[in-house]
Amino acid sequence: MSEQLVAKNRIESLRAQIRRHDRLYYVENTPEITDQNYDRLMAELIELEKQFPEFYSPDSPTQRVGNELAGEFKTLKHAVPMLSIGNTYSYSDMREFDERMIRELGLGVSYSAELKYDGLAVSLTYVDGRFTLGATRGDGEKGDDITANLRTIKNIPLFLENAPKGTFHVRGEVLLPLKELERLNKEREENGEALFANARNAAAGSLKQHDPAVTAERKLTFVAYASARFPAFDDLELLTAYKKLGLPAASPCRICRDIEDAVAFCEEWKDKRFTLPFATDGIVIKVNSFALREKLGATAKSPRWAIAYKFPAETAATKLLSVSMQVGRTGAITPVANLEPVRLAGTKVSRATLHNFDEVERLDIRVGDTVLVEKAGEIIPDIVGVLKDKRDGSEEKIVAPDKCPVCQSPVYRDPEMAAITCSNASCPAVLKRALAHFASRNAMDITGLGPAVIDELVDKKIVSDYGDLYAIKGVNWLAFSNIGDKSAANLDHALNLSKQRPYDRLLFAIGIPGVGSATARTLAKSFPTMEKLVSATLEELTAVEGIGEINAKGIMSFFSNARNLEALEKLRSAGVAMEYRETEDVPKILDGKIFVITGAIPGVSRLEAAATILKYGGTVSESVSKTTSYLITEDLSAKSSKIDKALELGTPVISWKELAEMCGFEPPEIEEPRQFSLFDEPNKEEELKARKARLAKEKAEDKTENGNKEKEASQTDLFSELF
Ligand code: IVH
Repeated sequence: MSEQLVAKNRIESLRAQIRRHDRLYYVENTPEITDQNYDRLMAELIELEKQFPEFYSPDSPTQRVGNELAGEFKTLKHAVPMLSIGNTYSYSDMREFDERMIRELGLGVSYSAELKYDGLAVSLTYVDGRFTLGATRGDGEKGDDITANLRTIKNIPLFLENAPKGTFHVRGEVLLPLKELERLNKEREENGEALFANARNAAAGSLKQHDPAVTAERKLTFVAYASARFPAFDDLELLTAYKKLGLPAASPCRICRDIEDAVAFCEEWKDKRFTLPFATDGIVIKVNSFALREKLGATAKSPRWAIAYKFPAETAATKLLSVSMQVGRTGAITPVANLEPVRLAGTKVSRATLHNFDEVERLDIRVGDTVLVEKAGEIIPDIVGVLKDKRDGSEEKIVAPDKCPVCQSPVYRDPEMAAITCSNASCPAVLKRALAHFASRNAMDITGLGPAVIDELVDKKIVSDYGDLYAIKGVNWLAFSNIGDKSAANLDHALNLSKQRPYDRLLFAIGIPGVGSATARTLAKSFPTMEKLVSATLEELTAVEGIGEINAKGIMSFFSNARNLEALEKLRSAGVAMEYRETEDVPKILDGKIFVITGAIPGVSRLEAAATILKYGGTVSESVSKTTSYLITEDLSAKSSKIDKALELGTPVISWKELAEMCGFEPPEIEEPRQFSLFDEPNKEEELKARKARLAKEKAEDKTENGNKEKEASQTDLFSELF
């Protein structure tokens, strides 16, 4: 066989294996191989495809993140219109709907009941099993072509084996997990950006990105619930067929004997839905038989055979105890309501944002009022109204401050933002938040520069901007009462490390209004040095994809501020890297992986090791648990409970060199041999096996002992640790 043919076969086999594992992992939740072995298959495939570009295929599992989209999304006409469903909030409407069905069909019908997923409805087109097109619902007739972004969603198969020949459409919902929404909003808050009000908006925002790499970071997931004209008898058959094909089918789906069964399903999920990892806003009830659906047909807007029961918005009444004023990183002052704690949508609520003072006025809300709190999109509590007839005259009006609650400087009203803002550019509250942002994980990642240290730095007037951080050296840290020798040394080290952060992280860190991590990456590529960005004109900035006029003006006004330029100058003279370096645009290979390090790594300090892992997108944790992806150690025979735990849990144990291979960086050259040995370097697999066997034996011996064996065991542990 020619080398080419061998490669072709291997490429095909790898693609099939990876597809199968994707499906086991993302759809069936029953992975068969470790992440490490999966990564190996993927790495081999990437390498082979690089060597043999003639075997390129757009539906290879390596092709999820494609090229950036230029300009607007293309508009597509849906082959089958994407109708919506009539909503109701009452069971009596559901019963009326049932009577209508019985009247029309002349017989009692069974229904399928499913969760009503609260994300973005999309339609996927498969041609001969290949995912060729994906579109948003749009107005139902026409939607946006978001194929490139949908391809990044891991549980959307790019290729369906055993799919029906020809074209078929799958309709479903793209969801943003609530945890991910929380993470995104935290990031946006740190960043001074407007928060997503709910998971639906966030999912939509994530799918309308012009850079699929941004969509890929968002951990979106897909669920399939309908296909027009699918060769099946009913929903049960349809969903079973989806599963067989490898599509993530809607679940649960209850086949209901009659409408009362469907009502019971709604009741069951009214509270249970809060245990789900994503947002739902009701139950969709559909006539189960596809033949009967055909008979019933549709109006212009919605099918006659379905109705959506919407869960009542969870509201609760509680008392407004007081209002605090929060000063944000941009100086904007936000009124925050402190409430008498109340349970709402599965969580305890004691605070809610009042957004701004226009909102306070609109609601005419006063301290002491009984207010109605609602959970919009299940995550952010909102005050939606005031029960004015509960007033007794003792309530107090909320007045907008005329001085900053932190530094007492006068405030001004930003005409564009409806926000009252502190006029003092070095307001301690603003500075503290700016420093916390500068040091945060996605920015300069300065370990150890936490809130307590920042408070001291600002309160003792040691720093007046982030540029001053790099001027504090060694013993000077010790001037703080709260910092010990070791922390001082660590901080010194962390600050030094941070000087080499990629340029886009620096752009994100310095707090340019409206510039989040994604925009920072775009800017870094378009303006590869700080000088170029500082002197960029409005035309140059708006010429960059994704940067609009408002954004561009914000950037320009940031760089026209003398204080900001002064801070940047301090960074420059401290030696902070300020230009784009190709090599630092590293792939986030370790994304989602959690590492634990035990023992020393020759040539690499703890901090450097952690920084490297973070740089490649991983996280570092202190102890080995079920969620740990890898344990890193250089000495497999070391006495370490972390290694034992890893072996017990089946966590892969790797060396720094193996990590370096995984990421593609050079491990440090060690001059001295690590250990003097007369024997050959031990084989890792064998060494691990032997250790595992030893552990198992010890455990078995433990079990055979009787009486207070646990106590004894822990005592032996203690002794062996002491000696
Ligand atoms: S069935 C024509 N099933 O909710 C009806 N729709 O107002 C075919 N939705 O935009 C859709 N979860 O996209 C169906 N389990 C589910 C659903 C669901 C959410 C969406 C649907 C539509 C809206 C209805």
